Amino acid sequence: MAAAQYCHLRIRHLPVIGNMHQLGRGFLHRKLQELARHHGSLFLLRLGTVPTLVVSSAAMAGEVLKHQDHVFCGRPQQYTARGHMYGCRDIGFSPYGERWRQLRRIAVVQLLSVKRVDSFRVLREEEAASLVARIRTASAPENAGAKRRAVNVSDLIVSLTYTVVSRAAFGNKLGGMEPQVFRETTKEVFDLLGTIAVSDMFPRLWWVDWLMGLDARTKRTASKLDDVLERALQEHEKSSESNDGEAGDLLDDLLSVVKEDGEGLKLDRIDIKGLIFDLFVAGIDTTSKAIEWAVAELIKNPREMAKVQEEVSQVAGTQGVLEEQLGRMSRLQAALKEAMRLHPPVPLLIPRETIQDTKLQSYDISAKTRVIINAWAIGRDSESWENAEEFLPDRFMHNTIDYNAKDFRFIPFSAGRRGCPGIAFATRLAELALANLMYHFDWELPEGQDVESFEVVESSGLSPALKFGLILVAKPPQA
Ligand code: HEM
Repeated sequence: MAAAQYCHLRIRHLPVIGNMHQLGRGFLHRKLQELARHHGSLFLLRLGTVPTLVVSSAAMAGEVLKHQDHVFCGRPQQYTARGHMYGCRDIGFSPYGERWRQLRRIAVVQLLSVKRVDSFRVLREEEAASLVARIRTASAPENAGAKRRAVNVSDLIVSLTYTVVSRAAFGNKLGGMEPQVFRETTKEVFDLLGTIAVSDMFPRLWWVDWLMGLDARTKRTASKLDDVLERALQEHEKSSESNDGEAGDLLDDLLSVVKEDGEGLKLDRIDIKGLIFDLFVAGIDTTSKAIEWAVAELIKNPREMAKVQEEVSQVAGTQGVLEEQLGRMSRLQAALKEAMRLHPPVPLLIPRETIQDTKLQSYDISAKTRVIINAWAIGRDSESWENAEEFLPDRFMHNTIDYNAKDFRFIPFSAGRRGCPGIAFATRLAELALANLMYHFDWELPEGQDVESFEVVESSGLSPALKFGLILVAKPPQA
């Protein structure tokens, strides 16, 4: 590898910690955007001892995710992912290879295909109706003459996405476990998956994770998770033997694929548990954040909200929103895309890793280089977007830019062979939820807060949510 070429890309770093002092804690996507302003859309950091390439423009993202996708398709095996996802034997964290290819094919063709997503229409409509009912109850005045109560809409949105993913994956077959226990375990795992271990940056310092108690915590949560997944799996195995006639869920699908393909697929029960839990890890927080940011931006931009509400009520008529009407709600869809342009739920996508040496823009890049793609910065790049920092859904009304990453200026779901396979699942639910929220309520900020003082700011963390949550007053819509 030509060291001189590598040097041009590299930002000067300190011994031992590399460039970590330049990143600090939280808001990593903002700090990396700042570095890109000084060092260009492609630069190399050293995070601890790990060489990390940072990509910050649409053109470079196209190089990495399209032209050289076959090289940039590995995944670094992060510590807490190894601990919880059976040594990364799921899809999302798995190294690139034959086993990943098999799991991915099952997910794309069987579990998350448009046809299978369609089959969950009733489930989505039921849960969207339940969201509306819960908001009505929570916001009702305590007594006649009292004011409407403010509702924590963020919490209810997470509840919605959690329930839809859980019912799609497991139906009601949780092996006798209370749904709340599974939900709490899931939350504990999510918290740990967002933790960066010392050994992720300094592989030789693995003992520090042990000393700091991360090892013990990870083992404890992983064992709890395995217990709940095992119980759900056993109930599914039993019910498939007894053919109880209940409508099939995604775990049932998975079991039949493995049974039918028999020897061809070398998947065991660990692969099955890893794959099914991936849907929770990848689908819940991401989808709820997409909905939450869209509502927040519409509150901040009441004129845009009025336009969306008008469209939704015109298309839906008096009967309420039906899923098949969503295709005619282009303004609603544009508002959701615009929210995801400004606030991609996974701002740095999921890190990739090069699987062999390569050349990018005449720079030599070594195998096993970690790769971060700053989708957040790309979505706000003023070279690509006019008035890039403003919420202007109109920009998605008159073009064909979609979630399929044909245009690398807009890549909330990433692209290429490791791109998100859950686009249909996520967007169908997000659009339906948003349409219902716009159709059934007029939204106001709680007393004492006006639109100017309402801050659309993010929490810290790798996948930021709205810092203060959406606390809103929901009123029946004016005729
Ligand atoms: C708005 C919601 C969502 C967003 C923004 C999103 C975004 C992403 C991103 C950025 C990646 C990384 C892709 C890469 O490395 O190139 C990813 C991977 C993945 N997503 Fe999603 N996702 C969403 C919803 C979902 C849903 C609902 C599911 C399934 C139920 C899902 C399943 C997956 C899986 C399995 C992977 C791993 C793919 C692989 O490594 O081969 N996602 N997603």
